[in-house]
Amino acid sequence: MSGPVDLAALRAQFDAQGLEPRNLDTDPIAACRQWIGAAREAGLFEPDSMTLATVDAGGTPSARAVLLRGLDEHGFVFFTNYTSAKGEALDASGVASLHFLWTAMRRQIRVDGLVQRTTVHESDAYFASRPRSRQIAAWASDQSAVVGSRAELDEAFAAVAERFAGVEVSRPPHWGGYRVVPDRIEFWQGRETRLHDRLRYERSAGEWTVSRLAP
Ligand SMILES: Cc1cc2nc3c(=O)[nH]c(=O)nc-3n(C[C@H](O)[C@H](O)[C@H](O)COP(=O)(O)O)c2cc1C
Repeated sequence: MSGPVDLAALRAQFDAQGLEPRNLDTDPIAACRQWIGAAREAGLFEPDSMTLATVDAGGTPSARAVLLRGLDEHGFVFFTNYTSAKGEALDASGVASLHFLWTAMRRQIRVDGLVQRTTVHESDAYFASRPRSRQIAAWASDQSAVVGSRAELDEAFAAVAERFAGVEVSRPPHWGGYRVVPDRIEFWQGRETRLHDRLRYERSAGEWTVSRLAP
């Protein structure tokens, strides 16, 4: 879809639909895919960006955006630097929350779960699919570390580019994926004229059950 998004029409459309268990897939992963797909079809920019919330070893919370790069029955996958602040927090706590927000559609999804690193094979495959400049940047940037200047970063990038001149850029060992394995997924749909809708799926012994929550 191209051209400006008609926000008022979008809101009205999703407001009118409301949210009932009968119009949301019984599999919340499938429902997530449908909502992300709807945001994409509506022409929203980066509909698969999400906020990742972590808590570090000292109990300090932190949140930042990452891009969803895989979603199936096993969980939500994103890629990053394992030695970044978020990487250290994820490895220390083993838990994460994700938050998708599409204000134009008056929708959000919240995901809570355990987190694990993706396999080396998954990280290799995704890294290989990235544009070369991003592969070089993954080597050049010691993500979350303090840097002296922009020039320092540019020099690091140039040095890595030279090192890999004419050959494939290998995946840095400190770069790879995480998978959030959800045990709770909540769908929120804003309603203009009534109370907002909240449906929460919880997984226990492999089965999802859905509850309506007060807004
Ligand atoms: C829309 C958007 C998408 C982003 N996607 C990623 C991503 O997929 N992986 C990543 O490491 N950082 C991503 N970033 C940058 C992070 O938000 C963050 O600045 C960086 O990962 C360092 O976070 P940390 O110091 O808490 O580890 C993204 C930022 C924005 C605004």
